[in-house]
Formats: sequence, C-alpha cells, structure tokens
Amino acid sequence: MVSDFGSRRSCGALRASDEGAVVELNGWINRRRDHGGLIFVDLRDRDGITQIVFDPKQPAFADAERLRHEDVLRVNGTVRKRPIGTQNAKLPTGDIEIGVDRVDVLNRSLVPPFAVNTDDDVEENLRLEYRYLDLRRPRLQRNLTIRHRIVKAMRDYFDSREFLEIETPMLIKSTPEGARDYLVPSRIHPGSFYALPQSPQLLKQILMIAGFGRYMQIARCMRDEDLRADRQPEFTQVDVEMSFCTQDDVLEIMETCMRHVWHEVLGVHLPPFPRLSHAQALERYGTDKPDLRFGLELTDVTQIFAHTEFVVFASVVRASGAVLALRYPGGAALSRRDFDALAEIAKGHGAKGMVWVSLDAGGPKSSAAKFIDAATAELLREAVGAENGDAILLFADARGAAASVAGKMRAEIGERCSLRHPGDFAFAWVTDFPLFERDEESGLPAPAHHPFTAPGEGQWDLIDTDPMAMRAQHYDMVLNGFELGSGSIRIHKPQFQRRIFEMLGLTEEQIEQRFGFFVKALDYGAPPHGGMALGIDRIVMLAVGETSIRDVIAFPKNQMARDVMMDAPTSVPESLLRDLALRSAAPVPRPQGGAQ
Ligand code: AMO
Repeated sequence: MVSDFGSRRSCGALRASDEGAVVELNGWINRRRDHGGLIFVDLRDRDGITQIVFDPKQPAFADAERLRHEDVLRVNGTVRKRPIGTQNAKLPTGDIEIGVDRVDVLNRSLVPPFAVNTDDDVEENLRLEYRYLDLRRPRLQRNLTIRHRIVKAMRDYFDSREFLEIETPMLIKSTPEGARDYLVPSRIHPGSFYALPQSPQLLKQILMIAGFGRYMQIARCMRDEDLRADRQPEFTQVDVEMSFCTQDDVLEIMETCMRHVWHEVLGVHLPPFPRLSHAQALERYGTDKPDLRFGLELTDVTQIFAHTEFVVFASVVRASGAVLALRYPGGAALSRRDFDALAEIAKGHGAKGMVWVSLDAGGPKSSAAKFIDAATAELLREAVGAENGDAILLFADARGAAASVAGKMRAEIGERCSLRHPGDFAFAWVTDFPLFERDEESGLPAPAHHPFTAPGEGQWDLIDTDPMAMRAQHYDMVLNGFELGSGSIRIHKPQFQRRIFEMLGLTEEQIEQRFGFFVKALDYGAPPHGGMALGIDRIVMLAVGETSIRDVIAFPKNQMARDVMMDAPTSVPESLLRDLALRSAAPVPRPQGGAQ
C-alpha cells in the first residue's frame, strides 16, 4: 500500500470499514461512465482503483462532465458503501465508493494513442515511444513492482550472508568479455577512450585481492551485441564474488539466494536444483541450457542403424556420426504435410534432414518406410520409450550437430505439446564446461566463459598437450531453457593467468597493455576466489511469465538498439565532437523505428 498522509489515501486503500471517512484521493482517470444522471470515475494510482461518484445535485458535477481518460485529479469526499448488488468483487476497493465534495483537475491529458486501462496488444514501438503511458498499464506496473521485490529480496539475502554491496565504476578500461565495448571518448585525454563495463568482472576480483571476502552488487552492464528477446545493450546483474571458496560454496550461496527470492516474492518453494555436467546436458538435451520442465530426452539410436541400407544414415554411421531420436507425444496424429513442415523447421535449425516414424495403431509409417520396417520401428519405440499414437523424429549428422538440432526440436515439441508451463520453474546447474571452445572464425581456442576461469583439478597438465580437453570450474544456472547466470572459480596465481593469456595468442606486450593492472594485482597475494553473476532481467522475465526482457525493464531499447522515447542514439553538434577530438565519418542513415 502506498503511504497515506493526513486524510490522503491511495486509490487501493479504502475498504467498507472506512465508511464515513472524509478523504482525499489523487490519481488518473482510468475510466469515466455516465449512468442515469450519475457520473462514475474510476480513479487510478499505483496502488489500485477507487470508484468516485458525481451527483448532478453537486457543483462538482459540471467538472465531471468535462473529464477525460488520463486527466489527473484530486478528489475530496466521503467513503460510503456501494449499494447492494453494485459491489465489484474483482477490486479490493469494490465494496466502497467516494461521494465527491470537491474535485480539482490537476492536469489534463491528450487522448492517449492506446488504451491505458487494458493490457491489450499494442505495437511495441508505439508502446516504447509512449513508455510513460505503457508503464501506467497494469501489466508493466505489476512487472516492475515484482522486479523491485526480487531485487530487494536479493539484497536482503546477501546482506544476511555477510556480503558487502560495493559499487564499481562505469568508466573503465576495455576488458573484453566476448562482446563489443561501448566506448566513451575522453575530453581531457584526446584520442583516448573509457569503456563502459560489460560486467564488473576484474574489479570484483580485485576487491577479493583487496580483502573484502564477500562482495555483491546490483550491477549495470553494457554490451554492444546483437539483440534478442533475452538480450539488451544494457542490463542488470546481481554480481557476486567470494574468497577462499570452493565451487560448491558458490553454488550453495546462489541456489539458496534463488530459493529465498522465489519463496519471498512468489510464495513458491523450490526443490534442490539438479546438477548436470555440460557433457550430460548436451547428450540428454542437445543444449547446455536445457528446459527441464519436461522429459523427452534425446536417445542415441545409432546402433539400431549400424547396418542400415539407408544411405543417409549409413554414411553418417560410417563417419562416426550419430542418429538421435526424439519422441513426439501424440505425433502419430500428424499428417505427412505436418511432418514436412516440421522437417522445414528442423532445417531452419541446421538439420540436413529429418526422418519421422509414426507409431500408428494400424502399424508404423515413416518418411523412410523402405528402410524402417516394423521390427526397426519396434526397436526405436523401445529405445525412446514411445507409445502407440506417438511419433519418433530422427536426426543424423556429426554428433554435435545432430544433438544441437534435436535439442531445438525438443523445445519445439515441448511447446507444441504444451509442456512448457510458464508457472513451472525448473532450475538446474550445468557444470564441468570445457575451458576452451574453438572460435568459429579463427578456429583458435577461445575461452568458453572468460579468460579468468580456473581449470578443474589436475587439468593444467593438459594445457600443452590437449587444451581443448581441459575442463573448467565453470558453472551456469539454468531456468526453463534460459541461462540465468554464469560463474567460475578464478585463476588466482599470476603465472597461470599469464599462461592462459599466452594460450589465447596474446603477446607479452598485449598482456601488459590490456591486463597489466590486473596481473600486477594478482602478484600481491591474491586469495583463491570465485563467484557468479545472474541476469536480473531474465530472472524477472521468467518469474512473471513474460517472454521478453523488454517487458520487465522500465526503459528498454527496441530491437534495433534504439530508445524510441528519447530518440537515442542521435548525432551531436560538431562543436561537441571537436571538444572530444573526434570527427564523424560520412553520415550513416539512421535506422527507422525497428522491426521486431
Ligand atoms: P555472463 O557474460 O555469462 O557472465 O553474464 C551473466 C548473466 O548476465 C545476463 N546477461 C544478459 N542479460 C541481458 N542482456 C544481455 N545482453 C546479457 N548478457 C548477459 C545473463 C547471463 O547469464 N562476469 C561474468 C560472471 C562471472 O563470471 O562471475 C559474466 O558477466 O543472464
């Protein structure tokens, strides 16, 4: 409830027990209705809605006739019970109304470009242009309120576990974390640039070197990367670091945090989070961020096709690839055309093709019927645990490629079979990531997480012989198919940190120039440490059942990374550029609006 002052009450506060109270209410006109001589106004603020009644016998009635949606009012009046039969059970204030003594119109509103009193669909760029009106609507009011509660629950939790909240600067040195930096030119040092932090990674590690032991921050991060529904150029992390800890310590702290938040804010008791190794996640779900709200695990059926005459599968088997099977519950009801459409979706995810087997009551059918007889279909049925009425989808390729496609099709089937309930929360840990992955462009080893992640026990021995086989003390928290956060135990010995930089192809000079300050700090007694960062936008999105983080951020950028309300980014006057010793290249046409 929003605080009351004197006789001032919020629009969600009054109940039947307040009958007779003389009160003042302030708010916006949510709705105005003329009813047989009386005029009813629903007055709205963040706290709720209260019905105001204007009687033609009163002087205020003349004002009421001119009122429009979204005008701002101050109303003085008396609380009275609504007549029997006119109560509104949907509103907490639905038993009462205010008989008006006086009304002041504090401000007028133009006709809004969309209805503010409903959550009806509105084109997103229009919503973003008039974000202040969009934010008045019930859904975003609720989302931002829950966001506040989640962040507060996190802060309280970390405080109770003796973490200090410490702010780190926004103007820092460029430290790569896989995305491009946003750069800020320095006026005082012409030709030099600060970078906005992609995360406080190195600063939080330095706070451990500084002896703070347990740090947390609700940290704003900036990354110039391609946008998606779960990515923004600026976003917020709950960023955490601890000294003298093991991986299990970090997992315990972070898991308990999420359990606390879900209990405090949503009233949901979360069970312990299952743990999967990275390899298990890929094998069973074809992704390192599996949606565990449903089963439908991938099944390796390569052996069933070891001697097949089906050339497509035979060539994959010969090349040590894999044939992976996926159960589609109730899929036997699909027509050939439906399966064709499904195969197109699979191709869109990179599949070379898709074979289906339909377990029809009248005997199996298949897109490769010549090679999949009843006996083979039975073997498949047993292997994937399918039932009559189901279908089985088969993907053959190099193992990684087949698993990736099958994993994406698993999500598709989960969606089609309504197995992805927004109100179910399937958290999990994914651990034992590889330390390096191959950079797609250069083919060189690149950090799978970031270059500050420590290898697992006994893994350093592999750095010269088989670096790609090295496992990291890197863990991800996953929820409903989204990566909520990542973290790792860090390298705390300077010589090992230098070794990793060299491994990544940095020369002595480059190490010095880019990370000299950090390696120097490691030289002065850095304690063993580790931590993690969770994406708050994604957490809130999933907690409230939204599908885009834009709906849980007050002022997000659109899909073209533009703020369409402020109209940013924009060009700036030449004089400003001159001050910064910058010259603009030929003007680039500004992207308009932005398709979603
Ligand atoms: P990482 O880069 O994995 O790790 O980021 C951690 C979490 O931050 C969120 N996130 C984003 N959310 C919205 N928009 C984005 N563009 C975006 N990018 C990342 C995700 C992600 O899981 N410094 C390390 C953490 C550590 O090692 O302690 C880091 O930032 O939810």
